[in-house]
Formats: sequence, C-alpha cells, structure tokens
Amino acid sequence: MIPKIIITIDGFSSCGKSTLAKQLARKLGYAYIDSGAMYRAITLYFVRNNVDLSNVAEIKSALENISLEFIVNPKNEHSEIYLNGENVEYIIRDLVVAEKVSEVAALKDVRTFAVAAQQQMGKERGIVMDGRDIGTTVFPHAAVKIFMVADEAVRVERRFTEMFEKNPNIDLDEVKNNIALRDYIDSNRKISPLRQAPDAVLLDNTNLSQKEQLDFALKLVHDQFEPVAK
Ligand code: CDP
Repeated sequence: MIPKIIITIDGFSSCGKSTLAKQLARKLGYAYIDSGAMYRAITLYFVRNNVDLSNVAEIKSALENISLEFIVNPKNEHSEIYLNGENVEYIIRDLVVAEKVSEVAALKDVRTFAVAAQQQMGKERGIVMDGRDIGTTVFPHAAVKIFMVADEAVRVERRFTEMFEKNPNIDLDEVKNNIALRDYIDSNRKISPLRQAPDAVLLDNTNLSQKEQLDFALKLVHDQFEPVAK
C-alpha cells in the first residue's frame, strides 16, 4: 500500500501529461487534478465577460465571481471541471480558449487565485496534479516530481488527432502555431515560468507507449518507499 503523497507532472503543451496523470491516479487510487483546466476555465469566463486584461480592478472583480470545482463523472470516472456550477470540461478545450489561456495565465492575480485553490486541493494529499509550475511553485516539496518532454512534431500530431475527433474542421497549422505560442509565453512569463524543478525526473515519452510511461512513473513512486539497496 502506497501512502498518500503528492505527485507533480509538469511540461510543455501536449506532451501527454494528463494521460500519464490519469493513469497514475487510477492505479494508485489518488485524485487527479488538471491545473491547466483551471486556467482554461478562468479564461473562458474572461472571454465570455469581455474582461479587459490590462485592467487590474476588472480582473480582480472577475476572479471574485469565479468558483471552480472538480466533480467525478460517474459514467467515465473522469474528474471534470465546473465553472460556477456549469460543466465546462469540454468547451475549455476549444481553440478560442487555447488562443487566450497563456496570456490570462501570465497575470499575477490569476496565478495567485489558481495556486491558492490548487494548494487547498492538495491538503488531503493522495493527488496527482499536472501543469506548468506544480513542482516548482505549487508543491515545491512534493514527494515525486516528473518533467515531461516529447518532440514537437509528435506533440502537434497528438493534439491535432485529439482535436480532430471533436472538430473535423480543425486546421493543423492553427494547432501547431498555438502550441508553439503557448510554449513560448509559458516559458518566458515573469511569474512561475515553465521550468524543470531541480529535483524533477525528466521523462521523454516521444517513443514510449502509454504502458511504458506508466511503468516508468510507478517505479519512481515505488522507489520512494522501497529504495533499492546500494
Ligand atoms: O493540455 P495542454 O498541455 O496543452 O495545456 P493545459 O495543461 O490545459 O494548460 C493550458 C494553459 O494553462 C497552459 O498553456 C498555460 O498557459 C496555463 N497553465 C499554467 O500557466 N500553469 C499551470 N500549472 C497549468 C497550465
């Protein structure tokens, strides 16, 4: 039996963080928290309400009206995000949101709001959280930290396939440009830029199957509790 710890998975866009996080959470009986979904839901609210991103007072008052919650869908056992009581799990994956989210996620007040909520969710431990700054800022003392990378072409293909299933009109170049832009903004913003934490283990899954990446992560978790005798 694995004690309840915090596992963080950070990395660039579309390198399979959420797939691995869900696999791990299921295997360990932990909760899975998609921190990116929180930034996407906040962005959806800002877009719907025409929040002016250069107006701090407007941003602060918008955040006061936002309540985010994860609820497990009994049909598929996925934890889905609710914005003020509305299930927005699917609509937040739209390109309209993806095109704005990194700009919104770079705002100081937005990060303070999201990080506080994420830390609260981690109080009970027994969670896998994925994102950009989880191992560096949200849970710097997490027991297991993974930093995921994959070749850009593979990432674009994976995200395109995922989005194409929902919208056959999706354009490959639009997906590719969005990934490149978000990676750039996420890595270069002032507050909590995307970085590998010094104690995070690098996982390149370009050529790994889902089973291989899960085995790699499970070994890291088990090694925490049963260190290999030297
Ligand atoms: O699925 P994908 O990896 O493309 O993105 P996501 O995890 O849904 O995150 C969407 C966006 O939210 C990222 O591009 C970041 O701008 C922001 N984000 C962040 O700033 N910090 C996090 N911990 C998670 C996401």
